Amino acid sequence: MADSGSGPAIAVLASGRGSNLQALIDAQRAGQMPGRIVLVAGDRAEAPALRAAETAGIPTLALAPAGYAERSHFDAELFARIAACAPDLIVLAGFMRVLSPAVLEPWAGRILNIHPSLLPRHRGLATHRKVLAAGDHEHGASVHFVTAELDGGPVLAQARIPVPAGITAEALGERVLEQEHRLLPACVALLASGRVRLQGEIILLDGVPLPAPLQLGPADTPGPA
Ligand code: GRF
Repeated sequence: MADSGSGPAIAVLASGRGSNLQALIDAQRAGQMPGRIVLVAGDRAEAPALRAAETAGIPTLALAPAGYAERSHFDAELFARIAACAPDLIVLAGFMRVLSPAVLEPWAGRILNIHPSLLPRHRGLATHRKVLAAGDHEHGASVHFVTAELDGGPVLAQARIPVPAGITAEALGERVLEQEHRLLPACVALLASGRVRLQGEIILLDGVPLPAPLQLGPADTPGPA
């Protein structure tokens, strides 16, 4: 049973491969992440992420944007269907659409996204290529609270890796992805356990404002920088 754990109900949104979703499923099953994944929703019916959810026994929802005249109508329908599953938290795990402010607003502080860069550097797509083009020596992944600003909400935690000379964007992306699979479940665990909450633009950890994003070291729980 995928939803036998205790803790908050979690909805995951995913558009593609689903490796971050799988990391969440595995962490929950291993007892490393409280909560129950009650729904995996996406905008592409053929996405491997939805197959992974089905395999894990998690209810899925695929909603095609093509059926909606306006982006905001699609978003409203998607979030109404999500709300019908009564999740406490939403995790965007490779959900490749920008969401309208109106649907995000009720979820402020309860919706996380993973982004493959050290935000605020390299928002948007093709981050690994951007890192190489910029000559950065360091790269990584960030988990942030979602706001109306694309990849712009408060950053909860990051995982950093060096950028070796001569590495390809593909190889760099694989190294970042390994870190994502550690970072995302750890961050969801912090939110699901109630240790982290958002107050306006400020992230509180155990009631204390975070001066900077937590950093994921060799241990599986992100700590202060
Ligand atoms: C990840 O790199 C994530 O950071 C980005 O999209 C990718 C999704 O990969 N937002 P997957 O579908 O979880 O394998």
